[in-house]
Amino acid sequence: MSPDRRGPLVVAHRGASAAMPEHTLAAYELALEEGADGLECDVRLTRDGHLVCVHDRTVDRTSTGTGVVSEMTLEELAEFNYGTEDEPAELLELSALIALTLDWSARPVKLFIETKHPVRFGGLVESKVLAELQRFGIAAPPSADHSRAVVMSFSAGAVWRIRRSAPMLPTVLLGESARYLGGGAATTVGATAVGPSVKTLHEHPDIVDKAAAAGRATYCWTVDNRSDVELCRELGVSWVATNHPGRTKKWLAS
Ligand code: G3P
Ligand code: CA
Repeated sequence: MSPDRRGPLVVAHRGASAAMPEHTLAAYELALEEGADGLECDVRLTRDGHLVCVHDRTVDRTSTGTGVVSEMTLEELAEFNYGTEDEPAELLELSALIALTLDWSARPVKLFIETKHPVRFGGLVESKVLAELQRFGIAAPPSADHSRAVVMSFSAGAVWRIRRSAPMLPTVLLGESARYLGGGAATTVGATAVGPSVKTLHEHPDIVDKAAAAGRATYCWTVDNRSDVELCRELGVSWVATNHPGRTKKWLAS
């Protein structure tokens, strides 16, 4: 994930989630059609050990159902509608999203997988994610730049577990504190990139150069307005995560 002075690459945050229900196949397909360079998703474990793409602890906000993801089985969670009344959508499993990413032949797209609730399962989420990437043959890329997957977390422990088990896989240590990201945490866990919020980037724009000096790329989230996209371009941010991949690509092309 080397910094690219031509401008950041665009990651569709939860898919093209401003236009379509987040974490649905339709949201990701639209993002790909709109030219996204990467896809972002959050993953959680179901009670019976399946990786599903859900942001919140519960499915209450994003489906017709209710309940805590980690306390329900895949079958129970799959009962709900994750789309709209007019356009229903199924619960998205990580495996389906990896398959979509790899099947997209128009250009090589990267999948940015963010592990959630790493503490509760004591590292099980990361080992399951790695097993899934191994199953698809993408857990040991020749270099970080050529990897089709990136694993991210707000948990330094989660990033460390990934680095230990899959040293070639790029990782992003997410955070809102420039002091934390710019300090020893990213070095200690061997993160290949730091992931500040756009608010943190505004307050500490030097975070990008500091990361680059340490050989790290910068992934910034969630970058939804034009002036923030321009700021990322000026600072040399490598990746911007946005809910509007199509218009962000157009802004960057102009
Ligand atoms: O891409 C990183 C960003 O998604 C982190 O925040 O809450 O949207 O998962 P959140
Ligand atoms: Ca996320």
